[in-house]
Amino acid sequence: MPSPAVPAPADADRSVARLQLPGREVDLPIVVGSEDEHGVGIGRLRDQTGYITVDPGFGNTAACNSAITFIDGERGILRYRGYPIEELAEKSSFVEVAWLLIFGELPTSDQLAGFRALLTDEQLLHEGMRYHFEGFPPHGHPMAMLSAMINACGCYHPELLAPEMDDERLIRATATLMSKVCTIAAFSYKMTQGRRMEYPDPSLSYCRNFLHMMFSRPHRRHEPPLQVVRALTKFLILHADHEQNCSTSTVRMVGSSGANVFASVASGVCALWGPLHGGANMAVIEMLRQIQEGGDDPRSIVAKVKDRKFRLMGFGHRVYKNFDPRAKILEETCGELLDTLGVSDPLLEIARELAEIALTDDYFLERKLYPNVDFYSGIILRAIGIPLNMFTVMFSIGRVPGWIAHWYELYQDPERRICRPRQIYTGSGRREYVEMDARGC
Ligand code: ACO
Repeated sequence: MPSPAVPAPADADRSVARLQLPGREVDLPIVVGSEDEHGVGIGRLRDQTGYITVDPGFGNTAACNSAITFIDGERGILRYRGYPIEELAEKSSFVEVAWLLIFGELPTSDQLAGFRALLTDEQLLHEGMRYHFEGFPPHGHPMAMLSAMINACGCYHPELLAPEMDDERLIRATATLMSKVCTIAAFSYKMTQGRRMEYPDPSLSYCRNFLHMMFSRPHRRHEPPLQVVRALTKFLILHADHEQNCSTSTVRMVGSSGANVFASVASGVCALWGPLHGGANMAVIEMLRQIQEGGDDPRSIVAKVKDRKFRLMGFGHRVYKNFDPRAKILEETCGELLDTLGVSDPLLEIARELAEIALTDDYFLERKLYPNVDFYSGIILRAIGIPLNMFTVMFSIGRVPGWIAHWYELYQDPERRICRPRQIYTGSGRREYVEMDARGC
């Protein structure tokens, strides 16, 4: 934690913070997390004083207690349930990480086998869902399809929408969501290609099965090299959770009203779509392509950024102020993958050159702007053969376990309340209604 600007007097009561307001003082409780993060509890501030706090973008607001993911943005640390992301990316599988995030512990071999079997059971879509696909225009955006289809999928599983949830039902809901998002994504891709849907293959692992549904054809089965499967696994693990980011907070916000897990996850997909969040992985490739096609010198791009004519996509982060550990892993993975596939991607060269210039430039240093997870991920996805408009869908597939973990944590929280922020009203004061004939034309 950064040191406080004003050192506390030696005899100060360390369990409360004293807030001075015009004409009065109030003591607010100090809340301390398991990694020594400190917060000031303002839950009763309005009742006690009539004041509310103002924090646009929630940069200083802890909306909940959570035991799922820990980030130390100053030191570039990311851990899921206490396990460092570097170790999980190296040693674990995506299915195992999903279990860990949702249920808090690494699965036993029996739990993992049972969960894998359920994932396999849930791969197929209900035949009725084919008709939903037919309702979309052929070039509808796959993120729009994904969010709509997740909600539609809930309609086919009324038993998982019941207000009560327990571990057993949640395992079933998780397997349904995790498996169906892969099938939906592959189906929407095949539709844009005018090709027949490939049925899932129950003998394949989660990642291999997804690649099979995406790229196999009736006359030619897709057999991806091990390195591709490994890169995809890492990509999914690294995207699986990131505490209270925009889409996860959306899932929690929607879930706080009592909305079911399908509706809540569908809302997370919509929030992720934006270019300042998950949509940045598409925006980075579009930016790198523009630089390539325009023959621009990366130095002139950096100059434009400094003139505020341009935002460097894939750079900067609300929480990481040193480096994003996910970007570090993905840069390495990206290099290894391209080497193994014998592919040379000029966009990787441009990305590295941009990063090198930016990382030594005062503008970026002063603002602590570093490459984030989206800076290199698109180059991996390109190498695997994923089309650009599906990049954020890939992010969604990775993030599903995190969204479910947060939805369930909130569901189980005895102190859960509907999320309902306040505002500072800046509109006009009371006015009299103006009749139409008095308004002019
Ligand atoms: N390029 C240029 N300048 C930037 C960038 C960037 N990518 N990011 C931030 N800045 C500058 C801002 O202009 C601002 O400068 P100022 O203080 O002189 O006005 C300062 O850095 C702080 O920026 P904010 O926008 O206030 O930072 P915030 O925490 O609100 O935004 C965000 C974080 C949205 C990630 C931002 O850095 C950004 O837009 N990055 C590009 C989009 C991107 O890569 N998003 C993916 C993030 S990772 C994820 O969601 C999975």
